[in-house]
Amino acid sequence: MEYQELVGTRRSIRFFDPKRQVEQDKIQKILEAMLRASCAVNAHWLRAVAVKRDDIPKDQLEKLKTPVQAVVIELAPVHIYLYADLGVVNRVQGARLKELFNAGAVGSSHGWSPKFVDEIVYPQILKPMTQSPHYPVMAAFDCGVAACQGLLMAFEQGLGACLTAFVAPIINEIIKPPQDWMPLYALNVGYSLESREAGGQRPRPPFEEQYFLGRYGNPFPRDPKVVEELKASKMIQAPAPLPSRREELRKLARQLNLPE
Ligand SMILES: Cc1cc2nc3c(=O)[nH]c(=O)nc-3n(C[C@H](O)[C@H](O)[C@H](O)COP(=O)(O)O)c2cc1C
Repeated sequence: MEYQELVGTRRSIRFFDPKRQVEQDKIQKILEAMLRASCAVNAHWLRAVAVKRDDIPKDQLEKLKTPVQAVVIELAPVHIYLYADLGVVNRVQGARLKELFNAGAVGSSHGWSPKFVDEIVYPQILKPMTQSPHYPVMAAFDCGVAACQGLLMAFEQGLGACLTAFVAPIINEIIKPPQDWMPLYALNVGYSLESREAGGQRPRPPFEEQYFLGRYGNPFPRDPKVVEELKASKMIQAPAPLPSRREELRKLARQLNLPE
């Protein structure tokens, strides 16, 4: 699928075929997409643990359910639990920046050298960064960039997916992550039982309230011609709820024995 259509077609899918397993190569491709994301200081904070729902003992699966994601985690055959490895920066101490230098991605024309990393970037910027109260937010932002690539990859492969919160103390009993992994969200993956439209593109706040030109309060001018181009490329699709959605939800609920 072309990128613009992929962005436009993705929806948070909450009805999966609970019995249809996801091929391992598709999970690998989601993880490979995450690994290829851009990453601040090439640190790569994101850690992901793919867990098959059926490998989670029943009593723990029950304890993992909260009102905002119980049905999703019950139906999705694969949960990819996402964490930020907060220890990575002080473990690698700039080594991955030197890899960037050696790979020719950053160079002396921009002031980079192995010495610059060892004497300035790690001790004066990266190490203090890890002591800042904002450090977990910075790491989480970075992980979000990577997670989004994996999310889109799921749809590119014909799967459905939904990010959800997770109950870290319970899943940690199974995953047993290192102490310095900060829990983020779970990417729940499976074959969607929803139609491709899944009821239409979900509501968004007005563009002009979100994005600005030059300064806060000056809305970015939204060109209707660009909007039409994006409709043609299927990035902007018919808004939810499509008239067929109510019936689709009823059918899905009956099919899966869920309340209507
Ligand atoms: C970080 C993150 C966490 C989310 N957590 C949940 C969740 O716990 N339960 C849920 O049903 N949806 C969750 N969602 C999905 C959003 O509610 C959804 O994106 C929103 O309804 C917009 O719909 P769309 O994703 O279909 O465009 C989450 C999405 C993100 C990005």
